[in-house]
Amino acid sequence: MYDVSTKVKIQPLPEGLTLQAVDIYHVYGLEHQNKVVALRGISFDINKGEILGIIGPSGSGKSTLLLSLGGMLKPTAGQVIYSDGTDLTKLPEELQFEFRRNNIGYVFQEQNLITYLSAEKNIEMPMRLIGMSLIDRKKRVRELMERLGIWHRRTHTPKRISGGEQQRVSIARALANNPKLIFADEPTGNVDSETSTQILELFNELKEEMDTSYLICSHDPVVGEFTDRTLEIRDGILIGEHLEDIDLTDLDSSRFLVIDNQNRITLPEKALVQFQGTILYTWEIAEEGLLLKPLAKTERKIEQKIKFCTTCGMEIPKGEYSCPRCGAKLSRVVR
Ligand SMILES: Nc1ncnc2c1ncn2[C@@H]1O[C@H](COP(=O)(O)OP(=O)(O)OP(=O)(O)O)[C@@H](O)[C@H]1O
Ligand SMILES: [Mg+2]
Repeated sequence: MYDVSTKVKIQPLPEGLTLQAVDIYHVYGLEHQNKVVALRGISFDINKGEILGIIGPSGSGKSTLLLSLGGMLKPTAGQVIYSDGTDLTKLPEELQFEFRRNNIGYVFQEQNLITYLSAEKNIEMPMRLIGMSLIDRKKRVRELMERLGIWHRRTHTPKRISGGEQQRVSIARALANNPKLIFADEPTGNVDSETSTQILELFNELKEEMDTSYLICSHDPVVGEFTDRTLEIRDGILIGEHLEDIDLTDLDSSRFLVIDNQNRITLPEKALVQFQGTILYTWEIAEEGLLLKPLAKTERKIEQKIKFCTTCGMEIPKGEYSCPRCGAKLSRVVR
């Protein structure tokens, strides 16, 4: 197969993979403006038919990551490779649109429904864009709306239906073209906990029925019960991975530390507190694994210089290295 834009031969991903993100960076801000480095080298795979979660504090880069993977935002560097081998970052814009319409569904953090169109017209829109016939569109809209329990609301505009129903309309729209991958950014952000559970149960059922993969980012504790695997992002870096059934109030207990593509590892808060900001460690490969030992405190110790969270302004208690309110990791090295 050839990538039409570059005429470069591309290799499909190995069987079982839906997407591969390789060293994604994203920097916001134009020339001469203050820059925000939102993503700092993120790499991971999404397996076929899995629900993969992304968790992390506000401002850690979740939405930026989803937008970059879905081709809505061009990453500053890195590759986003889909199962047929297409690198979305290399496609010219007009081909990106087409690729997205055919392969990806997106449930936005803000629902993004077209306010003057009825629920059914909103759902029909992506099918119009790929030129599906009227008869097929009508059939698919009915099928999706019945499946999501919103058929009786078909003629209503988004304002005249509840938050949960709007969310279902946005999910139906994302599913319209039968994509193999759905990105959902805080899909349960604007609904009550009962509706959250229903939406997530629905994702689980649809995953089985339609063989779709999901990438869901969320702060919602309920989400942890539905994901097959969850990645933890902090300050634009992947710091941990969790398997099924995670408790968002106690991430330390289920976190596997990640050594990322660039061989970085982020130590858990507990260890940082225990060693009070020591920055030099000796290391050895021991029988059980890698053993890190802090150098004696008197030899090299840093003071905590940051008193207020740089993300949300909360006062930071002495001896802590992340914000108790928003979870942002604080730069602790002031030498
Ligand atoms: N358009 C933009 N211009 C400049 N900086 C931005 C822009 N959008 C996001 N950022 C910054 O990039 C970082 C990551 O933002 P992002 O929206 O991806 O975080 P998030 O994890 O989705 O947060 P939340 O949980 O609040 O939705 C933040 O520091 C944010 O302020
Ligand atoms: Mg966000």
